[in-house]
Amino acid sequence: MRGFFITFEGGEGAGKSTQIRLLEQHLQEKGHAVLVTREPGGSPGAEAVRHVLLSGAAEPCGPEMEVVLFAAARLDHVEQVIRPALEQGAVVLCDRFYDSTRAYQGTAKGLTKTLLSALERAAVSDTTPDLTIILDIDAEVGLQRASDRRGEGSVDRFEKDAIAVHQKRREAFLAIAAAEPERCVVIKADRKVDVVAAAIMKAVDSAMKKRKGGSAKREGSGREKSNA
Ligand code: TYD
Repeated sequence: MRGFFITFEGGEGAGKSTQIRLLEQHLQEKGHAVLVTREPGGSPGAEAVRHVLLSGAAEPCGPEMEVVLFAAARLDHVEQVIRPALEQGAVVLCDRFYDSTRAYQGTAKGLTKTLLSALERAAVSDTTPDLTIILDIDAEVGLQRASDRRGEGSVDRFEKDAIAVHQKRREAFLAIAAAEPERCVVIKADRKVDVVAAAIMKAVDSAMKKRKGGSAKREGSGREKSNA
């Protein structure tokens, strides 16, 4: 039986890595084989492209070049890592996936929807997420958290963009969730780690249970209830 594909999305400093670790533990305790991976990267080929993207080396070539590189990295990652793990029945937790391209490159000037969707199809084919957790946080709060975490380390190519750009990305993630409520759950990330973790586990358990029950439509998705 095909495994279960969960992607984590959100702006900078939303706490994705911490939450992925906690969810990994929770799923392992329930007896699942879990694979944790990330984008850009996740396979040897895609990790090489990650360096080119995040160092800013591709930035002078323009947004088309960058978006094609994200797609190339994703294609390799899907073929080499994600699809084989799903075929073996694993739960795959991926830190960012195609919604990051939609939110980051999709809000950059000059890229057409036609190019973005053609690249998305080419990169993933039918390997689309079963569930996407969008960790939502105010852009300024998130950037501050990312900067505290980074300490003396240097800021990457996408984090360095203006606050207005980060705000647009946040809105883009929320628009994706509104357009695909059966796949996406928005979880408020400006809360205590264990509160956020509990909300994520609830959403994941419910989505996996529904799939097991054979229901094609996952209820209970969409925006998280405010007190969940
Ligand atoms: P990373 O160091 O993985 O940080 P984090 O996920 O914790 O923010 O940085 C990945 C950066 O690449 C991040 O700024 C988002 C950006 N990105 C895109 O612009 N498009 C994409 O398709 C992906 C996967 C990432």
